[in-house]
Amino acid sequence: MNIDILLGLQWGDEGKGKIVDAISPHYDIIARFQGGPNAGHSLKIDNVRHVLHLIPSGIFHPDKTNIIGNGVVIDPAVFKQEIETLGPPVSELSKRLIISSRANLILPTHRILDAAYENQKGYVKIGSTLKGIGPAYTDKAGRNGLRAGEILQGNFRQLYEMHIKRHLAILTNYNFNFDLREYESGWFEGIEMLKNFPIINTEYLVNDLISKGKRLLAEGAQGTMLDVDFGSYPFVTSSNTISAGACTGLGISPKKVGDIIGIFKAYCTRVGSGPFPTELKDETGNRMRATGHEFGSTTGRPRRCGWLDIPALKYAIMVNGVTRLFMTKADVLSGFDTIKVCTSYKVDGSECLEQPFRNDTVVEPVYIEMPGWKENISGIKDYQKLPAALKNYVDFVERQTNLPVAMVSVGPDRNETIFRQN
Ligand code: GDP
Ligand code: IMO
Ligand code: MG
Repeated sequence: MNIDILLGLQWGDEGKGKIVDAISPHYDIIARFQGGPNAGHSLKIDNVRHVLHLIPSGIFHPDKTNIIGNGVVIDPAVFKQEIETLGPPVSELSKRLIISSRANLILPTHRILDAAYENQKGYVKIGSTLKGIGPAYTDKAGRNGLRAGEILQGNFRQLYEMHIKRHLAILTNYNFNFDLREYESGWFEGIEMLKNFPIINTEYLVNDLISKGKRLLAEGAQGTMLDVDFGSYPFVTSSNTISAGACTGLGISPKKVGDIIGIFKAYCTRVGSGPFPTELKDETGNRMRATGHEFGSTTGRPRRCGWLDIPALKYAIMVNGVTRLFMTKADVLSGFDTIKVCTSYKVDGSECLEQPFRNDTVVEPVYIEMPGWKENISGIKDYQKLPAALKNYVDFVERQTNLPVAMVSVGPDRNETIFRQN
């Protein structure tokens, strides 16, 4: 099989960007299939940190084709900023990056609508990144979207004005102040930037390359527990973050998918509102946040931290059909005397085997406690040289999930990655 999918099994920020970059040499094409600039994928290469929002994490490999698929929502202003901070000139990047004509655009008013809707929600705010994701996907599903392919048409400005007019009419219902011009100039500069890149029906390209034996890695954004169907709705994002989303978001058949790589942190984090059974609002949680630098790559917000949640992990494995697990941030747990893992939930005193449908269900995590390890593990290259207590932790996860943990990440750098099998 020539298509693999790598996606997050928790609430996002599992380290997808770092790992996609690290395994890109095994692939010819790296493609984003959903989400938009709500994503923040950090890479560390030669001590320089890069944060990608829209552009696939294979972009730093000059010989790879990167695709922004039809399932992604693109904010042209963010796209331009990102292109300008990457390093290589546009003439070079335009040989590495292709955009689907069917990807929907995030309009300046989508961002304003996002803020207006969130503002109206009062105490039940989603904690959106306010990048316009919800309103852009709403327009896509409502058949009111403006797509990247329209940029190349003569009536683009006219179409734009029509959509803005419709959005401004909706905004009159909200008591919300905004300045459209503040966003508009950057947005149109972004449109000009997009014109430097091929905007094509990428589904043909992808299927053609696959039939010629090329290998594709589909890069997920957000995480399974933020999926619009299977996450803790409404505290979710607006796309299907699960493996099925890669098929609709790129135009590929599920029959052609090989490995589904599920990536998870050795603990859990969540940014924004919503249920988080193992959340630690204490010194332990603060320590994870400080050691793991758990602050949002997109918004800078502190991430909520907690112990690994096996029932949520098993759920994510089930809805994605994960074939291999990758574990990141093992180094962040170094130094704890003991480490807890949630193995089941209790609701009203009884064991609960499912992810509760209702967000107000009081879920009590049931933990087992394991010995921790003290060593600094970031320099270790060989799995066998990791502390016995960490290998015991990995074995435990494998037994619980019935899947191999094929990679353990021990630091943010591209090279701080230990592969156990290929
Ligand atoms: P993504 O959204 O899934 O790509 O993840 P983010 O980039 O938002 O967040 C992951 C953060 O952890 C980034 O700052 C990464 O540089 C960092 N990171 C990734 N893997 C590791 C790891 O194994 N150890 C440590 N300490 N940091 C890591
Ligand atoms: P990456 O790809 C973590 C969260 C937001 C909010 C909810 C809805 O970096 O893992 P949205 O902006 O989509 O309306 O926000 O989803 N969220 C993320 N959390 N990582 C992300 O992406 C996220 N993208 C959205 O914090 O709770
Ligand atoms: Mg992130």
